[in-house]
Amino acid sequence: MRNRRASFQPPCYIFVFCFNLYTSVSVSICCISAMSALASTAVALSSRAFAPTAIEITLACADGMTLAAQSWKPSSEHTTKRRILCLHGWMDNSASFHYLAPRIMEHFPMDTELVALDFPGHGLSSHKSIDGPPLMLSESAFYVAEAVRRLKWDSESTPFTLIGHSMGAAVGCLYSAVYPEQVKNLVLLEGAGPLARKTEDIAKHIRMHVQRRQTALIQNKSPRIYPSLELAVATRRQTAKNFPGDQSLSKEAATLMVKRGSVSVGEGVRFCHDARLQWPSLQYFTTEQTEALYKDIQCPTALILAKSGWPFDEDRQNRTLELLRPVHYTTLAGSHHFHADPDTAESVAQEVLRFLEQE
Ligand SMILES: *[C@@H]1O[C@H](CO)[C@@H](O)[C@H](O)[C@H]1NC(C)=O
Repeated sequence: MRNRRASFQPPCYIFVFCFNLYTSVSVSICCISAMSALASTAVALSSRAFAPTAIEITLACADGMTLAAQSWKPSSEHTTKRRILCLHGWMDNSASFHYLAPRIMEHFPMDTELVALDFPGHGLSSHKSIDGPPLMLSESAFYVAEAVRRLKWDSESTPFTLIGHSMGAAVGCLYSAVYPEQVKNLVLLEGAGPLARKTEDIAKHIRMHVQRRQTALIQNKSPRIYPSLELAVATRRQTAKNFPGDQSLSKEAATLMVKRGSVSVGEGVRFCHDARLQWPSLQYFTTEQTEALYKDIQCPTALILAKSGWPFDEDRQNRTLELLRPVHYTTLAGSHHFHADPDTAESVAQEVLRFLEQE
């Protein structure tokens, strides 16, 4: 499938550019030393002297899709000992790691390479072609494998760390089960394996997807234009409030994610994520399948949940703990984006670093 809806498709494998985050749309090629506005914001939040900066990279997949990512690297004279891949949640983008990524780099300054990926349809990555489903969780394993191949992280005997938030945690579990030899350790933030649905509901779920897909494609509505970035940010924050439980999203985190995930148009801004991501999935994992994935994960895991985050079913959570046996399990103050919200991000970072230091 070709990505006919590609919103952003640079021609080469890696090239460096910086964003004007205030207009988002102007992606201009500029010098390698350009300070990433995302990284500098994160540093401002943590008010630290050392400013690890991200560069923008693009990873060309074998199927024509282009994955965008932010990459942090030590200077070339240092050899990389530690590699970390960060996977964001559904409808978010790599900017959700605006705090955690530079914080980890600051902690392990000399020998760590960290990449925060934008999933297909999210952030600056291209969108899946219109003649297929926009998002299938099992397909994410292919895109992570492609990112790993293009980063050349698969060609060496150095396994890497996966850090996943929400849907990114589900993909992290999936990938760790599929490629246990590649994954050194796994950090799950506000999520674990794929959301499981009842086996007997399979027909109902497929029908829901098909109906939504038909309606949306036939109506072919043009994307909503928000008069200002502030209104787009407010909408994004409201979405968090509409989710189950007592969730919220800070203005700071929402602003960074919306800036990466929107473009300026004449009269305002519009989101540039694939609108089809909101459709129900064509197929869900069953409880048995999700549990089978836990059993195939071989690396040490850390499970870090938020007190006011996603209200996971207690029964399911107990079963997850039983099968996953995380070496590190905590619940911290904060909401679903606790790793990105300024009030809680540092405590999440400390928890993650404590786990990563155990290697
Ligand atoms: C989950 O585990 C906790 C701690 O072992 C226990 O107190 C609780 O009753 C369990 N919940 C369910 C629904 O089984």
